[in-house]
Amino acid sequence: MKTYPIHNQINVPEVGFGTYKITEQSDMNDAVKAAKEAGYTYYDTAAFYGNERQLSQALKEANIKREEILISTKLWNKDQDKESTKEAIEKTLERLDTDYIDLYLIHWPCPESNLFIESYKVLEEYYEKGILKSIGVCNFTQEQLKELMENTTITPAVNQVECHPYLNQHELQAYCEQHGIHIMAWSPINRLRDIDQEAIMIELSEKYNKSIAQIILKWHIERNRIVIPKSKTPSRIRENIELYDFELTEDELKKIDDLNSDKRYGVHPDEFTIEGSDDTPE
Ligand SMILES: NC(=O)c1ccc[n+]([C@@H]2O[C@H](COP(=O)([O-])OP(=O)(O)OC[C@H]3O[C@@H](n4cnc5c(N)ncnc54)[C@H](OP(=O)(O)O)[C@@H]3O)[C@@H](O)[C@H]2O)c1
Repeated sequence: MKTYPIHNQINVPEVGFGTYKITEQSDMNDAVKAAKEAGYTYYDTAAFYGNERQLSQALKEANIKREEILISTKLWNKDQDKESTKEAIEKTLERLDTDYIDLYLIHWPCPESNLFIESYKVLEEYYEKGILKSIGVCNFTQEQLKELMENTTITPAVNQVECHPYLNQHELQAYCEQHGIHIMAWSPINRLRDIDQEAIMIELSEKYNKSIAQIILKWHIERNRIVIPKSKTPSRIRENIELYDFELTEDELKKIDDLNSDKRYGVHPDEFTIEGSDDTPE
């Protein structure tokens, strides 16, 4: 599996494991066990998901050593200011029962509050101390990235954004690539909404004898994006990383590119406000 070197400190595999909505300890235990057996070595969580403790516990249950895997987690919107960001990082370290985080991300820009630069500077401090091995953002537009980079020192390693065939983020990706920022796709299979009805997806799925989820994930990695599909179903967890025994042609990749309509299923980054965000889970 291809890996991307990030901030000269970690190598992020192109397929990681998303954990949003896995909150029950027994579900997390089963998911992590299946993920380990399938070969995942990178787990994505967030303070907002309320499952950092469960992830940490599940990793222990599965006898996975901290240094064998990478973890990304995120600063929740309500923790965006200097002091709150420090506290949030400390609490996350405690919940994950670790003394470092491989990749730490600002969850949403919340531009109306104008606090993301202040928060990111705290991430830079923790990066310099070696507690955050790499740092980055989620859901940043090109304009927000530009503003961030003009006012801070360390280029974000990653921009984790909604990205799937209906929202392929080609312009944002081109901009990020110019600056050495990796695109990481959230909702990479769009939770299979609508996409499983597309003729091209059905055709490719039949041609390669692969699921539609596998066709989409293969398309992402061929387009140099990191993916973090989520599933709590062991067979799907395996399926989502079994992407290496078939190849899509350039023409087929292009046909999937052409499904783009810039349609979002999630919130637009300009519209998410701190006031509109839920409380940080304890
Ligand atoms: N930074 C952000 O703002 C942000 C926002 C959203 C998500 N994320 C991250 O990105 C991860 C992935 O995004 P997501 O969870 O929104 O969506 P996703 O990975 O595109 O889809 C997950 C959904 O699809 C189902 N599924 C997974 N694999 C499948 C397969 N092979 N066949 C059929 N169905 C399948 C899962 O069901 P089952 O679980 O029931 O199997 C689940 O309902 C999250 O878990 C989270 O870590 C980040």
